[in-house]
Amino acid sequence: MRLILGIETSCDETSAAVVEGRRVRSSIVASQADLHARWGGVVPEAAARQHVERLNPVLQQALDEAGVSLREIEGIAVTNRPGLVGALVVGIAAAKALAFALNLPFVGVHHLEGHLYSAFLTDPDAPIPFPHLCLIVSGGHTELVLAKGHGDYQLLGQTLDDAAGEAFDKVARLLGLGYPGGPAIDRLARTGDPSAFRFPRAWLEGSHHFSFSGLKTAVLREVERLRNEGTLSEATIADLCASFQQAIIDVLVAKAVRAAQEWQVSVLTVVGGVAANAALQSQMREAADKACLQLLIPPPHYCTDNAAMIACAGYYRLLAGERADFDLDAHANAPLAK
Ligand code: KG4
Ligand code: ZN
Repeated sequence: MRLILGIETSCDETSAAVVEGRRVRSSIVASQADLHARWGGVVPEAAARQHVERLNPVLQQALDEAGVSLREIEGIAVTNRPGLVGALVVGIAAAKALAFALNLPFVGVHHLEGHLYSAFLTDPDAPIPFPHLCLIVSGGHTELVLAKGHGDYQLLGQTLDDAAGEAFDKVARLLGLGYPGGPAIDRLARTGDPSAFRFPRAWLEGSHHFSFSGLKTAVLREVERLRNEGTLSEATIADLCASFQQAIIDVLVAKAVRAAQEWQVSVLTVVGGVAANAALQSQMREAADKACLQLLIPPPHYCTDNAAMIACAGYYRLLAGERADFDLDAHANAPLAK
């Protein structure tokens, strides 16, 4: 079994992909960012409705671009956890309908397991290095996971409050930069001074956990102060973005490298939407080189949500003989590993 159809509707991206093993034949992502921008964040009911409207054309486009017909698909992988339940069920219903009509095996995939595999999509012939350390930095999660084998993960640390991407989105909203905030801050930070403001870093020494809510509050206070003073200029906003972003990067880089050394792995992957951040990428690369770690970061279109990573994770599960039943459910919260 090699030709897998992947479906991802856990949040605000409607996505379908066809993979052949780990080789991506097509990956279509219809972003709902414009829809949610006017509210400054994802509105679950609106997300679910838009998935209903868009999933069929997105599926068709994925098949067309891959140059395969539905009859050639050999298995289906669908994100079933964690995520917005109303959004997840749209993808799950489609996967079940296709599996039933075509008499195909299907599996439910953990969204973060998809992200974990996203680091291995661009070089499908290279073996996946186990064990490796995976830093997942997305809008909903910040986790350090030790990947020991396919489906065999150990959670080393996670955020105790806000996820890294969530902090980017909240700070961007505070500064009136729109949704999603990560790309806007990434762009503005390039012209700002990362040492202009000294924001706190929560090191949580002795653990691999993270905390970003103190940083977010510190930025809020600074913005309020500058607004009251009437000195919140465009240049100051760029400095705020650069300084805030640097505080996040310092912690992510140091803690990921330290965990890799502690667990004696030689490969580090950084995945999820925040991994698309240019400054994070270059500083992570520098630190990994110094620590003699091999660093894998997916290209930006595989950092953010996509169905190719879900199809890839599902491929290994199907290959191992896993099969979902037609009572496969959506779950808002579910740990990837303990
Ligand atoms: O992985 P993802 O697409 O969705 C979730 O699973 O949450 O991640 C989305 C998050 C958002 O918080 C977004 O602001 C952030 O990734 N993001 C970025 C960048 N691009 C997306 N954060 C920092 N810099 C970026 N370039
Ligand atoms: Zn994601």
